[in-house]
Amino acid sequence: MNKKTALITGALTGIGKATAIAFANAGYNLVISGRKEDLGKNLLNELVAKGVEAEFLLADVTDEKQVENLVKYTVNRFGKLDVAVNNAGTEGTLGPITEQTVENFHTTFNTNVLGVLLCLKYEIAVMQKQGSGSIINLSSIAGKVGMAGASVYVASKFAVEGLTKTAALELATVGVRVNAVAPGPVETEMLKRFTSDSEDTKEKMLSMTPAKRGGQPEEIAQTILFLASDKAKYLTGQSIAVDGAYTAQ
Ligand SMILES: NC(=O)c1ccc[n+]([C@@H]2O[C@H](COP(=O)([O-])OP(=O)(O)OC[C@H]3O[C@@H](n4cnc5c(N)ncnc54)[C@H](OP(=O)(O)O)[C@@H]3O)[C@@H](O)[C@H]2O)c1
Repeated sequence: MNKKTALITGALTGIGKATAIAFANAGYNLVISGRKEDLGKNLLNELVAKGVEAEFLLADVTDEKQVENLVKYTVNRFGKLDVAVNNAGTEGTLGPITEQTVENFHTTFNTNVLGVLLCLKYEIAVMQKQGSGSIINLSSIAGKVGMAGASVYVASKFAVEGLTKTAALELATVGVRVNAVAPGPVETEMLKRFTSDSEDTKEKMLSMTPAKRGGQPEEIAQTILFLASDKAKYLTGQSIAVDGAYTAQ
């Protein structure tokens, strides 16, 4: 019961997976969740091999019952919920505004905005009762600046920034902190999809990043781990850009 418990959504790939591994290395009990059983079981084995207690649960963040069940399961299994990382997200279908569809709007907003809202709803209910907890939402540089060709994704990540600030304000006096991490381009499957799996397009995107390289998922995970920790006890309602100075321009 002394160990902290963390719940991570969309934990089976990319930043979510790197975060699960970083939390395991830091000795947390873990519940990882996602939509793919095979990936979930593989990552679970990897985490358990590190000697931590971990569980995998299938959960689609757009489904309220599944989110409610995920949070309940975590509390039943480990007795508490100290940290929640709301990481599941999609870039949707990219392209100019004139080509955007209602379907893409719903898919992107259901995952990135409704998904985060539902996670917050059930995580906060538990943490409020505990009088403690740290929640980290995955925003993006696309939650801070516009990005041609990514209107719906950008709008959804601006919404994540708003949810983060509002939740932090609602919880500021009860010992529960809510922050966001806003990565620049990070070397994951999402970046490959964002750049149409073209090295040329990726190079162009990275050349606009002052650091002239993409971030590694582990570099994002370390910031999440810090925000989760007591070292960040007075840090709430913020969105930390981890972006090689992209948004400093
Ligand atoms: N990579 C970047 O450059 C970058 C930059 C800024 C922000 N981010 C944000 O970082 C987060 C992680 O992205 P990533 O780069 O690690 O990409 P990724 O590897 O594609 O990870 C996204 C994860 O979310 C899961 N997911 C999508 N929809 C879901 C749903 N409805 N329910 C549950 N899980 C769902 C995906 O699972 P499936 O395989 O089942 O789809 C996948 O495991 C996202 O929120 C993304 O917007 C990424």
